[in-house]
Amino acid sequence: MKFLTKEDQQIADLIVAERKRQEESLQMIPSENTTSRAVEEAVGSSLGNKYSEGYPTKRFYQGQGIVDQIEIVTQNRAKALFGVPHVNVQPYSGSPANLEAYLAVAEPGDTIMGLVLSSGGHLTHGAQASATSRIFNSVQYNVTQGGFIDYEAVELLAKKNKPKIIIAGFTAYPRTIDWKRFAAIADKVGAYLITDIAHIAGLVAGGAHPSPVPYAHIITTTTHKSLRGPRGAMIMVTERGLEKNPELANLIDKSVFPGAQGGPHMNTIAGIGVALNEASTKHFVKYVHQIVNNAKALAAALEKLDFQIVTGGTDNHLMVVDLRNKELRGKTTAEALELVGIILNYNTVPFDPNPPFSPSGIRLGTPGITSRGMKEADMKPIAKAMHETVTAVAATKKKLGFSYEDERKKSVRIELFEKTPELKKIRKDILALCKKFPLLDSY
Ligand SMILES: Cc1ncc(COP(=O)(O)O)c(C=O)c1O
Repeated sequence: MKFLTKEDQQIADLIVAERKRQEESLQMIPSENTTSRAVEEAVGSSLGNKYSEGYPTKRFYQGQGIVDQIEIVTQNRAKALFGVPHVNVQPYSGSPANLEAYLAVAEPGDTIMGLVLSSGGHLTHGAQASATSRIFNSVQYNVTQGGFIDYEAVELLAKKNKPKIIIAGFTAYPRTIDWKRFAAIADKVGAYLITDIAHIAGLVAGGAHPSPVPYAHIITTTTHKSLRGPRGAMIMVTERGLEKNPELANLIDKSVFPGAQGGPHMNTIAGIGVALNEASTKHFVKYVHQIVNNAKALAAALEKLDFQIVTGGTDNHLMVVDLRNKELRGKTTAEALELVGIILNYNTVPFDPNPPFSPSGIRLGTPGITSRGMKEADMKPIAKAMHETVTAVAATKKKLGFSYEDERKKSVRIELFEKTPELKKIRKDILALCKKFPLLDSY
């Protein structure tokens, strides 16, 4: 950062402060990760200066010889890693990628079918607040009372509504997804099956979650979650997709550019290329299996401490915890945990009686802490710190006579934390754990 420090101390200081925050707390938001410094260097490179509207060898501006090679290398790495015949590496992020995939095969007003947001679906899967439900006719499926995808209900809903697109692959779903079952349902109603593997892309690449490639027509993914690349996204077309529609690769490319985007971010594409190379190593296969082992160990340790894990556990990198038995709201818990250095997010639980901005649960995951080298045994102190934090804050709440409803007021939460001295001691424990596992510079 020698140039930045010289030229803009203010921004430089903030970047250093953010790195320190990441270093000194546990990043357990399941959609986050720490990239290698190699990925950071590619993203921060002069490639960001280049305008490259179009595709390799078919651009609209001059000076493309080198960036063409970068995009082709990145495409080839993605195709080899996931085993697909076509990929588009230009989507700016996961949300535009989904819209671009839908618009490639459906017209405005057509029906799309995704999982309800509060049960673990993503906004762009047709949630009410998302443009996807304004552009398309969105019908949504749900999970069972136990939190598992209700495949029978998915089939009934599909038969009733004959969607053009069924979306599978989620934002807050802790279990293995039965791609084959989704494909059978999509086939019965003639729908495209779009699988959104944003969260589990790394797990799929390293063999820690079954791949949707034999079943999906189109696969969208972000590149910055378990895949451990830069902020970005890809849209893949499978052999099955090309069988259903031989024009599919073309339709996707046109939908990305010029349909929804202008110039691709070549610096990001290079960063994706670097991350894909890292993800094709034996080291990465070990890493993603460790992510899952850590998540399972953490869920088991939390369950022992009477935390209610939605679905009773996890098969992947994340878990959702229903905190209603702890008499503490998700938001209060997430804020208290931030004070001790455990960074996660408050989250709805399936059929949550509380609203999304003050829901009943939290969501947490292990990609970030596994990147810094933690193993199963290191999950116990994290579960213990979470237990101590929740117990201490709940006790203060009781002592001060605040209700579950009172917790929705920020002033109440601040008072709760100020009057819980135990948080300072727990913070020390977490800081010591962070020091034991520094953020790694290389993958
Ligand atoms: C399943 C899924 N799809 C798409 C996205 C959107 O990605 P982005 O935030 O990059 O737009 C997310 C983000 O968390 C996600 O979880």
